[in-house]
Amino acid sequence: MPASLPLTGRRVLVGISGGIAAYKSAELVRGLRRQGAEVRVVMSAGAQQFITPLTLQALSGHRVCTTLLDPEAEAAMGHIELARWADTLLVAPASANFIARLAHGFADELLAAVCLATDAPVILAPAMNQQMWANPATQDNCELLRQRNIRLLGPAEGEQACGEVGYGRMWEPDQLVDALVSPQERGPLQGRTLVVTAGPTREAIDPVRYLTNRSSGKMGYAVAAAAARAGAKVVLVSGPTILPTPQGVQRIDVESAHQMHQAVLEVVDHCDLFIATAAVADYRPVAAAEQKIKKSDAALTLALEPTKDILAEVAARPEGPFTVGFAAETEDVEAYARAKLERKALDMIAANGVGQVGCGFDADCNALTVIWRDGRVVLPQTDKSSLARQLMDIVIERYHAKN
Ligand code: PMT
Repeated sequence: MPASLPLTGRRVLVGISGGIAAYKSAELVRGLRRQGAEVRVVMSAGAQQFITPLTLQALSGHRVCTTLLDPEAEAAMGHIELARWADTLLVAPASANFIARLAHGFADELLAAVCLATDAPVILAPAMNQQMWANPATQDNCELLRQRNIRLLGPAEGEQACGEVGYGRMWEPDQLVDALVSPQERGPLQGRTLVVTAGPTREAIDPVRYLTNRSSGKMGYAVAAAAARAGAKVVLVSGPTILPTPQGVQRIDVESAHQMHQAVLEVVDHCDLFIATAAVADYRPVAAAEQKIKKSDAALTLALEPTKDILAEVAARPEGPFTVGFAAETEDVEAYARAKLERKALDMIAANGVGQVGCGFDADCNALTVIWRDGRVVLPQTDKSSLARQLMDIVIERYHAKN
């Protein structure tokens, strides 16, 4: 992992709308990258009158997105993917026109569409003529956006490009970068360590065969990514998958349930939260054959023994972490999940109905019912990344309520 900078692991989408302050966005992108953030840029047509996409491409290291209906750009990273990719969306400068259109839900150009399509926090850095800023229409629009939890940074007071003096100057790039680095922006799990298990395990039968299951690791990796975005130091103990390691996450690869158990014990001591999304084998062959088992006409019986229950063991530790289990069930999903919550003495469990079409093992989407002793929230079917963010919001709330 690269040395940790304040914004390492953060994915910031910088939106640039049309205004003279757009030239400052170049410095903003540099500043964000200097602090470790990965940055992508979306520019409105107006913004391109003030600064070229080529400049922002060179500074961000990524192609700049400018149009909603560009088949080539959509094929590379479409507006919905951009909206999902970002963990923070910072529009700087946010012009009076852009603010008005966002307040009223327009989605007829790329930047506004991405703002509507994201569930990441949206931050605006307004910049405009001081009369335009003071206009009640602008003020009402800003109020509407604040009520929707959109944060406004600035504008500052001072001399403006048009020669007038008053409120309307965009915050300086350094101030905007500092605002993202500040504790409030670093996330509710800042300073906390979280261990996630993910993926399947493989239990050797002989040197070439093993018992496993259909887990792809997608759910667990999405949870690890969401926890990292919430500011936690995340250790991901992963069974075999083909997935890339999420940004800012430390990954430990294992193969068998036994190895996963060992790896978890090595890292769990000082962790604050433990989330078990892995589909750990419940049984393993009593002894793996040393040589490949030869085929014969006789029936083959494999003697299996139970594996150690990693989650139950972590939950039973004195002063142990806040524990969240997953329960993949094909029938009586909630009842079985509740039974596991009690039996393993967990803080929370995510009941996962894996019989539903398009959900669960190896699917891109999932749906969960999150259950704790005196509460329950249903998270309807959506992509695993969005679902993991919603799950983390609940975990964070319950964790802080307990600690
Ligand atoms: O990986 P994906 O393809 O994205 O699919 C996601 C998933 C379906 C694997 C995942 O969301 C899920 O539901 N994981 C739990 C799988 C499961 O079958 O759990 P379980 O009911 O066997 O076990 C209950 C809990 O105990 C789980 O949190 C499990 O990680 C944990 N456990 C189980 C056995 C064991 N030996 N050690 C454990 O820690």
